[in-house]
Amino acid sequence: MRITFYGHACLGIQIDDVHIVVDPFITGNPKAAHIDINAIKADYILLTHAHQDHILDVETIAKRTNAVIVSNYEIATHYGAKGFQFHPMNHGGSWDFEFGIIKYVPAIHTSSFPDGSYGGQPGGFVIEGERKNIYIAGDTALTMDMKLIPLRTKLDLAILPIGNNFTMDVDDAIIASDFVQCDKILGYHFDTFGYIEINHEEAKRKFFDANKDLMLLEIGNSIEL
Ligand code: NI
Ligand code: MN
Repeated sequence: MRITFYGHACLGIQIDDVHIVVDPFITGNPKAAHIDINAIKADYILLTHAHQDHILDVETIAKRTNAVIVSNYEIATHYGAKGFQFHPMNHGGSWDFEFGIIKYVPAIHTSSFPDGSYGGQPGGFVIEGERKNIYIAGDTALTMDMKLIPLRTKLDLAILPIGNNFTMDVDDAIIASDFVQCDKILGYHFDTFGYIEINHEEAKRKFFDANKDLMLLEIGNSIEL
């Protein structure tokens, strides 16, 4: 499994020859100006919730790639009504896709579309690939529900928001990584706007002091699991 950070909460995930894009927000992110969205491959687009900073580039990418949009019922059918391929889910449900199993799990946040219309309830994704399992928390507060994840899935990586203000901060993300029983963390949802700027060295040190490994990728860089 190869995971690429496209800035903010946008990820590329490659499992064998299947390409997944999560929460595409590239053209609206000045820090990701060097990323060419027309070069991003997508068989599936996963959306944690309907906020602008998670869906901005969905239609551009889906039009070109014909990717299947996977999200909660309200978001998935919103795109379905516009003619895109979609797969609706809801909290606690999972589905066996060609590349592995995706479970849509709760997040504590909100989920309106940019025009104010209802975007269902926000979530995160647990992806069980053939060899590796990951948790993408989405925008969320620290929540006790995270403790349910390791009852079913042994994670190899937890992707957690760490920017504070709209989501968990670093200290809560450390507790979250305890809750999901995973000491390898990719931080996201930080630095994009003023509200969520963080001190990278301090964040890494705090995780290190808790015997955990926080990775912060440069935009466009990847890790291999
Ligand atoms: Ni949000
Ligand atoms: Mn967000």
